[in-house]
Amino acid sequence: MSSFGFLNGVRVLGVQCLQWGDSGKGKLVHWLSEWADVIVRCYGGANAGHTVVDRDLRWVQRLLPCGIAYDKDGKINVIGSGVAFDPTVAVEEIAMLQRLGITCRNLMISHRAKLVLPQHVLLDKLREHAAGGSKIGTTGRGIGPTFGDFRDSRNGLFVNDLLNRDVFVRKLRINLEQKRRLLGTYDPEVVRAVMHEPILGSGAFYDAATVINVDAVVEHYLQLGQQLNRYVRDTDTIVQAACVKQRILLEGAQGYLLGVEEGTYPFVTSSDCTSNGLARGAGLNERDIDLVLGTTKGFYTTRVGMGPFVTEHGREVSAQWCSNPNVTEANELIRYPDASVNSPDEFEQGVALRRVAREYGAVTARPRRTGWVDVPLLRRALRHTGRTELALMRLDMLDGFEQIKLCTEHRYGGPSYVLGEFMLEPGVVFREATVDAEVLGNMLPTYEVHDGWCAKTSDARSWEDLPAKLRWLVRRLEQLVGCRARILSVGPDREQTIVVE
Ligand code: IMP
Repeated sequence: MSSFGFLNGVRVLGVQCLQWGDSGKGKLVHWLSEWADVIVRCYGGANAGHTVVDRDLRWVQRLLPCGIAYDKDGKINVIGSGVAFDPTVAVEEIAMLQRLGITCRNLMISHRAKLVLPQHVLLDKLREHAAGGSKIGTTGRGIGPTFGDFRDSRNGLFVNDLLNRDVFVRKLRINLEQKRRLLGTYDPEVVRAVMHEPILGSGAFYDAATVINVDAVVEHYLQLGQQLNRYVRDTDTIVQAACVKQRILLEGAQGYLLGVEEGTYPFVTSSDCTSNGLARGAGLNERDIDLVLGTTKGFYTTRVGMGPFVTEHGREVSAQWCSNPNVTEANELIRYPDASVNSPDEFEQGVALRRVAREYGAVTARPRRTGWVDVPLLRRALRHTGRTELALMRLDMLDGFEQIKLCTEHRYGGPSYVLGEFMLEPGVVFREATVDAEVLGNMLPTYEVHDGWCAKTSDARSWEDLPAKLRWLVRRLEQLVGCRARILSVGPDREQTIVVE
């Protein structure tokens, strides 16, 4: 427990990515789970992909809290009411973990978590298919349509409905009836093809006349409900009670910039990825959170899917390359066998970083777009995240870079544009980013260029062990964003986590 001295006086701790996700929350939550009594996954759903390393085991979790490997000492792992809960994924994930020797006996699932059903996955995929050039690039896990049912149509189903046959059937019929007309607007051949994808049971829920076979859904999902009912609880009340005397760890998913409230809309997910979303998804109030550890990749950024990315390595070339569904890790290697992190071509630098850092989606295997750390966006994220300290993750990934760039400002390069009370003209500078898509998509980065540390960091175990140039860069970033860096991560293992006192 000695590593956790910095948490003295903290009762409720949040872990929240300040970028576009994939910044190492899984590792951090797994490490902090030793400290916590209650670990709550607060929002998102099976669209997340958290890589967890425990001794010589390594696995990817999409839905269950990353503290699940701690199944002793009365610890509790909770899937909170803010989560879009796909019971098929949950059952698969529990089975996968049990094969690894993790019992999952301390798991609780909120009875108010939002149920993801086949029609949500279907609609997610159909919308993206029909969107052409205005795709969001979703993960295709049904997240948008599920939250849409709750927040827009108000006909969503809760996990609790899996435990009551009559209620489930009634609500399911209403939900499907209200989607019938919408489903009829899509090409029936495309609908049929999507319904035969493995994620939709390879056709098990398909009916040529009604699209969704209600009876098949009812039987399958009630059966999943039976498998899961031992875990279902009123977790909001349990977490509220625990908050008085236990240590609570709130696990975010995705990242601030993907949040529907504050992110780079419309290229966002459908959860509130701020500390407010963290608290709410666990049944708490934002004021209950004592500290948030805001994760960012150490001096770089990644983004999956579409949307503006000011500091992207290779800008449009990269955005286009990474949105090509045929690009995989293997064929990227064939096409760019000599890509180097020190290449004069930034796009190739990005390809090389992707390879070194294995930046391919944990859920979708898509190549992640890569770029430099973006201080104006971090400043914005920090303004909305309560009391925060930084956790700089994956620092070892930049060990080979001879140069590190910090984007300190955004410079507007688009046409005249009215933004609230301001008239933007080319050349206007933003210290703190605006996330208005029209503006962010027309921003150019201003960089500070520094020498890299060019040394292996994965064996460092203390601040003093780190190369002087890296320490200097950490201090510079702290200065630029106005927030202290508390955690430095130099590898996937717990031991590779440095607490800066
Ligand atoms: P959705 O959450 O599947 O609706 O996808 C919306 C956007 O969020 C897309 O750009 C996804 O690539 C992105 N996204 C969703 N979950 C994650 C994540 O865990 N890491 C990174 N990007 C994500």
